[in-house]
Amino acid sequence: MRIIENLEEMRETAGELAIGGQSSGLVPTMGALHDGHASLLRRSAAENDVNIISIFVNPAQFMPGEDYESYPRTWDADLEAAEAAGVDIVFHPSAEDMYPPRAQTSVVVHALTRGLCGMSRGQGHFRGVTTVVAKLFNLVRPTRAYFGQKDAQQAVVIQRMVIDLNFPVEIIVCPIVREADGLALSSRNRNLPPEHRQRALALREALTLGRKLVRGGETDVSALTYAMGQHILRDNDIELDYLEIVSPETLEAVDKLDDLALIAGAVKIGGVRLIDNILVGPTGPWED
Ligand code: PAF
Repeated sequence: MRIIENLEEMRETAGELAIGGQSSGLVPTMGALHDGHASLLRRSAAENDVNIISIFVNPAQFMPGEDYESYPRTWDADLEAAEAAGVDIVFHPSAEDMYPPRAQTSVVVHALTRGLCGMSRGQGHFRGVTTVVAKLFNLVRPTRAYFGQKDAQQAVVIQRMVIDLNFPVEIIVCPIVREADGLALSSRNRNLPPEHRQRALALREALTLGRKLVRGGETDVSALTYAMGQHILRDNDIELDYLEIVSPETLEAVDKLDDLALIAGAVKIGGVRLIDNILVGPTGPWED
């Protein structure tokens, strides 16, 4: 497994792969790898000649007061996990190289970033994500790039960016990987104080409650969000950031669940922000 830290070396390597006609898969990450990342890496390894992971805690997507400093950094364990998941190249640029002092260009996807996490974290969060992902695509020139459905809004936003800016990259969105009790895997789970670990299930429980109500015939979005919200707010130690039912394509709010919808939520527990979501329509799916 090769580690590339230099932007020019990454660009040259990408050029050599292209000349050699080799396909490459990129899994962009901020490190603190878990089994969710491993599932993306394994799929990338299976579908491409060369499997590339980027590990870069991107300062541009953290808003003031967010957890950039405390975001988990587990470099040695990440290298082991990457190797075990069949990675060929680890791209690990520095913040100074990615954002040189006079940089002043960014990529903004407009309407899709206004709601959900864009509303609660600020649209600047997604500007940071799309800008870094566009830069990674330019440096790595992957044939395919792999993202997790846990960050459902991020996946929709990146798919839009790729279409709008004509990036020759196929975006592949992979299913959420969960702990045995249903908690969605997230790098931030490591920062959950142990006494709050059990509480973190409340969001997942609310989402599955929503799905159960839909299965029982409830299609009214106000009734569904009220029931799910109540489930979370029973616990005074959980701060409900948002819980919304939106179209999975436009991310706009729907009033009736008469088609496939995305139920997405974010909570804060013990200072840690967690997100999760579920896709459901009047005829299912009833499992995920
Ligand atoms: O999902 C993430 O870990 C990040 O938002 C990403 C896509 C690696 C961009 O920094």
